[in-house]
Amino acid sequence: MRGLQVERLRERVHAVPDFPSPGILFRDITPLLADAGAFGLCIDALAAPWQGAGVEAVCGIESRGFIFGAALAQRLGVGFVPLRKPGKLPPPLVEVEYQLEYGHDRLQAREGALVDGARTLIVDDVLATGGTLTAAHELVTRLGARTVGAGVVIELDALGGRARWPEDIPLHALLHY
Ligand code: PRP
Ligand code: MG
Repeated sequence: MRGLQVERLRERVHAVPDFPSPGILFRDITPLLADAGAFGLCIDALAAPWQGAGVEAVCGIESRGFIFGAALAQRLGVGFVPLRKPGKLPPPLVEVEYQLEYGHDRLQAREGALVDGARTLIVDDVLATGGTLTAAHELVTRLGARTVGAGVVIELDALGGRARWPEDIPLHALLHY
């Protein structure tokens, strides 16, 4: 992305102090989604590294990853597979459990949702501590597919999530904070 385009996206991500709890600076992407040009630019930029790379499926992480993942899958001309929070998908399921700062969470997908060995791209809105994205990679692996890369709109550099992501799999972030 050109510098001007990065600035255009950055202007559409609003910083909200003390949400959802005191001391947290929330990055609100809803102004970006509401601007058709900026949203389109965002999907173009997420797709750019993967044009002609033989991606066969896009997995989006519930819930904000669905918005970008579904649009990106369409842009790349491949199917979309939702990785969901517990209790949303009917069985048979494959799941992974992962640690949060306090407690744990799970991500689930339909068994057989990905073709064996499918070259899969994982998408989410934000990379923070990296727990969610890394769990998604583990789930894709358990589904029998192969993670070829990941794309996020925002990377919160100070939280060090990238260190948890496998070094040999490309991870692209459009904006850094
Ligand atoms: C947020 C964000 C990422 C995740 C990043 O999702 O959308 O998915 O946290 O955090 P991590 O890198 O520390 O794991 P959240 O679970 O808050 O829910 P939402 O997408 O449903 O809003
Ligand atoms: Mg999320």
